[in-house]
Formats: sequence, structure tokens, C-alpha cells
Amino acid sequence: MEKILIEGGRRLEGTVAISGAKNAALPILVSALLTDGWNTYQNVPELRDVMTINKLLTELGARVETEKNTVRVNAGALSRYEAPYELVRTMRASVLVLGPLLARLGRARVSLPGGCAIGARPINLHLRGLELLGAEISLSHGYIEAKAKSLKGTDIYFDIVTVTGTENLMMAAVLAEGTTTLRNAAREPEVCALAEALNQMGAQISGAGTPMITIRGVDTLRPASVTIIPDRIETGTFIIASALTQGNIKIVSCEPSHLTAVIHKVREAGVTIEEEPGGLRVIGGEPICSVDVKTLPYPGFPTDMQAQFMVLMCLASGLSVISETIFENRFIHVCELQRMGANIKVSGNTAIVSGGKSLTGAPVMATDLRASASLILAGLAAKGTTEVSRVYHIDRGYEAIEKKLAQLGANIRRVQIT
Ligand code: EPZ
Repeated sequence: MEKILIEGGRRLEGTVAISGAKNAALPILVSALLTDGWNTYQNVPELRDVMTINKLLTELGARVETEKNTVRVNAGALSRYEAPYELVRTMRASVLVLGPLLARLGRARVSLPGGCAIGARPINLHLRGLELLGAEISLSHGYIEAKAKSLKGTDIYFDIVTVTGTENLMMAAVLAEGTTTLRNAAREPEVCALAEALNQMGAQISGAGTPMITIRGVDTLRPASVTIIPDRIETGTFIIASALTQGNIKIVSCEPSHLTAVIHKVREAGVTIEEEPGGLRVIGGEPICSVDVKTLPYPGFPTDMQAQFMVLMCLASGLSVISETIFENRFIHVCELQRMGANIKVSGNTAIVSGGKSLTGAPVMATDLRASASLILAGLAAKGTTEVSRVYHIDRGYEAIEKKLAQLGANIRRVQIT
């Protein structure tokens, strides 16, 4: 087991480069299942979740070659269509193989992902959409059994905006007969990145980034060479890190247009964020102003930045109201922040943060990916030492976060414990 130790109080200065986006890499790696031949993916972040999806692709019979941030996948000889419980329970994004396996093989057996720390996270909209495309779906012994002689294009409406639901059905529809429309589709940059990758493979997708995506089915797809977009949530996390420590950092290899809501709200809190050639300059200042935030589907404020923003509000001068509208249990980090001295009250999906207090270092426990990022951020600002345990959560979605923060001057290190 490992822990991350942080001695707070250091101003961050210098330049940090953002890695490829986890939530773009996962669906794009899975899209390789739709074709044979070698697909090449560059700027793939080295993360636990990427290792998990590569293991799943290999389990299915694909060949996967990895060299640092480049991954090549050849699914020419798929031999299995099952995503086992052991893999799916460690990473729910494994359900993304449903659509491509049905499209390619007409068969898929995927473990139901079950709930996770932040909520029940059902996949009913994925399954309903696949049924509308002509798949027969049944559940047995915790597994989704899906089969389809052929998939036929149709009109699909999502009751709730779902990112991986949109991605799963986009991948199911690319080889379907006829045209599919996805209405109330997710508009995240990662959805657009997947659509672009599929179009490079010969798919005919239009409307990605709008609430209505149209997919004209084609007979076959060809391998592609794709560079993964920068991770907007990692970018937002470093923006907060500079703001919290009255730092002055430059963030490069990022795409500011993918996180305008975050930039607007952090600016509203009194932080200087300027676009410079090649990236963003982020200068923290005092006082930090209290700002209300409501998480929404893109282009609204991302739920994956809620915990990080809450830490900034703990140091702000007044009251801020944070509403989490996407997941029903995404305030788990609050208890740990309270142990560091934060004054936060939670009622339902609303957290009221009374700022103006400084945080003190403490032993804390990570519970999910973004909550663990918020605890590291809190440690940077806290007086004294913070020990974050269960750091495997952070390694799922941040590439070498402690090395990047140390390069910016943070007193942070990873230690092995028994
Ligand atoms: C994606 O999860 C991201 N993961 C999440 O990032 C992110 O928090 C989330 O989108 C919201 O932006 C990946 O892209 C791999 P949803 P996803 O389906 O697709 C409900 C991270 O930290 N819903 O958009 O699973 C669901 O319960 C992770 O990187 C249904 O009810 O989220 C939730 O309330 C965490 N039925 C809402 O929709 C369904 O069939 C949005 O979920 C599907 C979803």
C-alpha cells in the first residue's frame, strides 16, 4: 500500500504539462474493437484505468502494444465477447465494450458494473438504446447477455444526458443498417473526440457536441491513428492548485476551450487566469471570493471538478453553495475535509461551505478518484502534514500527480507503507 504525504503552505510556481484525457482515451481505445488492423493512439495517459481497459481488450482477443504514451491495438482476431466481473467491478467504463462487441460480433456478455462510491450509476439507458437498435438484452447471474443478428438504425432519446451512454450507442450504431439519431446526447469534448476518431475510421457521424448526433451506418471501418485530447479535469485540478497556494503557474499542453465553465467560476473567485501562447497562466491571489456552483452536463460546470472547487471555497471569504446535480452521493470528500478543519454543511445534493478558515493537515482517506484529488489539494493549502491513504484511487485518473506537483514546488511525496 502507498500513501501520499504533503507538507502544506508552499506557493506553486513553474510550468506543468497536462496529460491525455482519461475519459477520451477509454472509449477511443475500446473503439478499436470495431475494426481489424493496427490502430495507433498517441498521448494516452499512463493510468490504472488505461491499464485495465488494455487488459480487457487483451482478454477479448485483441493485441495491445504499449510504449509509454503510445498504445497500438489490433482487434483482428477477437476470440471472446465477455467482459468479466473482476475487470468491470474495478472500472465501470468497461461497459463501453457492449456497443462495439454487438456491432462487430453480434454478441456480448458484460458484467453489470454495480454501484460505486458516488452513486448507483445504472446503465438502463445504455441497454434501452441497444434494444431499440435491435439487440436482445437479458440479465443473468449479474451479467448482461446481449445478442443481435443485425443492428438497425433508429431514433434514440436519452431521458438523462449520459456520457458513456452516448458513447456506447454511437459505437453500436456506426456499423448498423441505416441511420441512427441520438437525441439529448452528451456534448462533452470526450464524446466529440470519440466521434472524430470513429470518423477517421470511416464512420459517418455528424452533430457531435450538439444535443443531436446522427450516425449513418457503414459496412466496415478501417484502423485509425489518433492523438488523445488533453485532460480538462486535470487542467482544472492544477488551476485550483495554483489558486489555493497563491501560486503563479503556467499550464501547457491543455485545451482551455474545454473548460470555460471552470475558468469562469475560478475567475469569479478572484483568481487571475490568462491565456498565453501555448497554455494558461494561473495566478492565485487573496482574498478568494465565495462563489456558488451547480454541476451540470457539459458545457456546464463539470461534476468531476466539484470536489476540487469545494476546497477552494473552504479558503474563500464567505458562504458558497455547491449543488451536485449529476450524482446522488458525490460529497464523500466533505467528511475528510471537515477533519482538516473545513466548515461545510450538507443537505441533500447541496453543500454550504463557510470559508474564511485555514485548513490543518491530517491523515485522510481517498474514496474515489476526484475526492482523492481534492484531499491532495487541501493538503497543499493546509498547515502541517496531510497523509492521503488509498492513493490507488488517484492513480486511476491522474498521471504522476505528485511528481508534477513536486516540480511546481510542492512538498509532496509518495511513500510505501506495510
Ligand atoms: C462519465 O461517467 C465519466 N466517466 C465520469 O467521470 C463523469 O463524472 C460522468 O460522465 C459525468 O460527466 C467516463 O467518461 C469514463 P453518465 P458516466 O452516464 O458516463 C445517470 C471520473 O471521475 N445515468 O453521464 O458513467 C447516472 O446515474 C468519472 O473521471 C442513468 O440513470 O456518467 C448519473 O446520474 C467519474 N442511466 C447521470 O446519468 C444510465 O443508463 C450521468 O451519468 C446512464 C446514466
